[in-house]
Amino acid sequence: MSIKIAIIGAGGMAGYHATGFRQAGAEIIALADVNQAAAEKSAAKHGIGRVFNDVGAMLKALPELDAVSIIVPNKFHAPLSIQALKAGKHVFCEKPPALSAKEMAVMKATAENANRTLMFNFNNRARPESYAMMEYIKEGVVGRINTCQAKWIRRAGIPGFGGWFTTKALSGGGPLIDLLHMIDLGLYFMGYPDPAYVMAQTSTDHITDKTFKGPWGIPDVAKGATDVESAAHGFVTFKTGQSISFAVSWAEMNKREEVSVTFQGAKAGGMVQRLFAIDGLDDTATDTCELYTHEHGRPVNRSIIVPPDAPMGRVRSAVNFVRALEGTEKPLNTPDQALSLMKIIDGAYKSAATGKPIAL
Ligand SMILES: NC(=O)c1ccc[n+]([C@@H]2O[C@H](COP(=O)([O-])OP(=O)(O)OC[C@H]3O[C@@H](n4cnc5c(N)ncnc54)[C@H](O)[C@@H]3O)[C@@H](O)[C@H]2O)c1
Repeated sequence: MSIKIAIIGAGGMAGYHATGFRQAGAEIIALADVNQAAAEKSAAKHGIGRVFNDVGAMLKALPELDAVSIIVPNKFHAPLSIQALKAGKHVFCEKPPALSAKEMAVMKATAENANRTLMFNFNNRARPESYAMMEYIKEGVVGRINTCQAKWIRRAGIPGFGGWFTTKALSGGGPLIDLLHMIDLGLYFMGYPDPAYVMAQTSTDHITDKTFKGPWGIPDVAKGATDVESAAHGFVTFKTGQSISFAVSWAEMNKREEVSVTFQGAKAGGMVQRLFAIDGLDDTATDTCELYTHEHGRPVNRSIIVPPDAPMGRVRSAVNFVRALEGTEKPLNTPDQALSLMKIIDGAYKSAATGKPIAL
C-alpha cells in the first residue's frame, strides 16, 4: 500500500515535494491552503484530486492520510505540525523548523508522544554533492572536522518588501533564519556537535532599497512590514572544541550569490559550493565539490564529479521522507538536530541584539 500524503500550502515548493513524493511511490491525495483559489490552481497544476481551505477539515475528512508536508510561512510551521502530529500524521515541514527553539522543543515532544516521524526540508543535505561528501566523511577520509565556514550570501536577493518574508512576526527574521541551510549542512558534516557559545552581528543595510530585490517575482505588499536584517555574520563554538563561522545575506556588497560550506578536517579539507552568475537563478549556477588532501608530501585537490542537480536536493529530500517512513532509508535529519540548529539561530539573534556572546 502506498503512503498517502497531503500538501499544506500552495507555494513554489509544492512542485518539488509532489515530484519527490511520487518518485518514491507515494500518492498525493489532497492539497490544503487557506487561499482556496491558490489551492485549486496548485492542485490542478500538480494533478492533486482533493482541495481544502481548512487543515482541520482536511484531517477530519481524510482518515486514510499517512502524512502531510507543510509549505507555509514560517509562523505556521509549529502550529500546523503540532496539529497534524496530534492527528496521527507524519510531518515533512519546510525550513526553518520553527520561529524559535522553544517552538521546536514542543514540536519534538509532540512527535515523540504521538510516535510519528517529524522531518524538515533541509534539502541541501540531499544534493548529490552532500551525499558524496558524507561518504568520504563517514569512511574517515576527512578525519575530525575542526573548523567550518558556512555561507549563503547574495548581492541583491531580498525576497520582496512587506510580505511575510520581511515581516519578523511571520518569518522569525531575515536571511539568518531563512538561509540557514548552509549552517545546517556544515553542522551535518561536523556530526552536529553540542554548541557552546555563539556571537553574531546583523545589519539592515539596503533592506528597504527596491533595487536590491531578488528575481523570483515575489509580490511587494505596500503597507506590509520590512523589519528584518539584510545580513548576519557570526561564529559558533562547540563543546567538542570544533567551530563554525557563518555569513548569510539577502543584500550585501558581494561579487555574486554564493552558497557554500568549506571545512578543514584533521586529514582533509573540503568544499561544497554553488555559485550563481545571476542572484537566485538555478540555470546559471556552477557547482563544485572538492576535497583537499596532503599526499606523498604534496597538496592534492580532488574534484568529486556528481550529476548536476539544479533543484539542490529539493526532489531527493522529499524522496527521503517517503523512504524514511517506509524504513528503506535513514531520515536525512532529526528533530534533535533541528532543535540544536534553532538554539544557534535564537542565540545569534540574541547576541546581535545584546552585543554579547551567548552561552547555548
Ligand atoms: N527549501 C527551500 O529551498 C525553500 C524555498 C522557498 C521557500 N521555502 C519555505 O517554504 C515555505 C513557504 O514559502 P513560499 O515561498 O512557498 O510561500 P508563499 O507565500 O509563496 O506560499 C505560502 C502559501 O501558504 C498559504 N498559507 C498561509 N498560511 C496558511 C495556513 N495557516 N494554512 C494553510 N495554508 C496557509 C498561503 O495562502 C500561500 O499560498 C516557507 O517556510 C519557506 O521558508 C523553502
